[in-house]
Amino acid sequence: MVMLPTDLTPKSTQKIQTRFRKICSDIPVPESLDLIKELRKVEPQSMSGMVPIIWHQAQGFLVRDPYGNQWIDLSSGIVMANTGHAHPVIIQSIQEQLDSPLLFTYAYPSKIRCQFLGRLLKFAPSKLNKALLFSSGTEANECAISLMRRNGLQIAPQKSGIVSLEGNYHGRTLAAKASGGNSTLVDGISRQELHHFQLPNPNSLTFDASLDATGIDPDCIAGVILESIPGMTTIPHPIKYMKALRTWTNKHQILLAVDEIQCGIGRTGKMFAFQHYDITPDLITCGKGLSSSLPISAVIGAEEVMDLAPPGEMSSTFGGNPICAAAAEANLRILEQDGLIKRASSLEQSLRQWISPLIKKHHRVIFQADGRGLFFSLHLRNPQTGQPWVELADKIALECVRQGVLLFLTGRGFIKIVPPLMINQEAFKEAVDVIINVMDEELAKCTNR
Ligand SMILES: Cc1ncc(COP(=O)(O)O)c(C=O)c1O
Repeated sequence: MVMLPTDLTPKSTQKIQTRFRKICSDIPVPESLDLIKELRKVEPQSMSGMVPIIWHQAQGFLVRDPYGNQWIDLSSGIVMANTGHAHPVIIQSIQEQLDSPLLFTYAYPSKIRCQFLGRLLKFAPSKLNKALLFSSGTEANECAISLMRRNGLQIAPQKSGIVSLEGNYHGRTLAAKASGGNSTLVDGISRQELHHFQLPNPNSLTFDASLDATGIDPDCIAGVILESIPGMTTIPHPIKYMKALRTWTNKHQILLAVDEIQCGIGRTGKMFAFQHYDITPDLITCGKGLSSSLPISAVIGAEEVMDLAPPGEMSSTFGGNPICAAAAEANLRILEQDGLIKRASSLEQSLRQWISPLIKKHHRVIFQADGRGLFFSLHLRNPQTGQPWVELADKIALECVRQGVLLFLTGRGFIKIVPPLMINQEAFKEAVDVIINVMDEELAKCTNR
């Protein structure tokens, strides 16, 4: 029986003790239920989609609960801890900032914000020479959308439309929601009313065919926003599509913003995932792995775009907070010093080798296994219906959790493998072997039915 995250009935587990994993209780842990239920009373149900385990400590690629269980983390939280959880260098930087003491500066100049921005901009294409800091990825995307609109409106009064791609995700505020998702309505409002337009999935149509199909008028478009590699699939867009899109945007004075909040900061084996396409965007948004810890996000762009808002019109109370900036500055230092970007690529090659026999054996169900670096997914399809096998993928993910490998439930028929980039090769192999064994067992059951 599938244990849904809403189901809090403890299920017995096989007890496990290896160098990296320890499962010594039923899952969910009976003693954890009071706290989980208390939270469910005070938080909305939107918060209960995760596997019901209590996080107590997270260090490197290991997550522990307070009851003695320990998981190898293949989720990085939510694709966040690129340099690992609670990296000692990040903790030390936070500590030094705490001791300074300076906890808050708003838009007043601070040394740590300047140091962090200098380090961040060194990674960006040279013409993208300014950055603005916020707290969440969603805010960074809102800012990018607003900048694109400001730019478009300087060209023509009707040039305020935003184009995005089906199946991409950009956050949970109105413009971010209008840019992402698949539904035609956004909080009950049509995209057109919000002046947002969506192109079909780039893997289904060429760029020119998409334009023909949607009839988008470039004179009314200020900008395009897309995830360089969508988190909902981890499958890159076709290079040809991205090049055609860049040519079209340049031709029509349309800005291109790439959302690197999930796929950026080294995760795909490049600092930014757009670097897989040999194009340069006008704006880059980042968050999550930017600090691998505290809330900080950024919009990076060229001076002429970033300076479109006059003094005082584009800032945020907590943006570039000194503690968060200290964490992010240390995070980028570690990424570089420990060669984690290259490491993501080399571990991708190992992962591909390990899973190849499983994919060959179950190719009717595992219809796609792809990604870049440590941003990788196994997509399951029900051969009878041809549809994504949502229930089976989530069941497999939950069983892996019960065996000491932390995955999240995608709810979309795929298993997402996104560990911290510093994961030890032996631990990674051990975790992937658990996935392979669980999948092999579950798929054999399904296909023998
Ligand atoms: C691609 C992408 N864009 C934007 C966001 C929103 O970021 P945040 O949750 O920090 O607002 C996310 C978060 O999952 C994301 O994955």
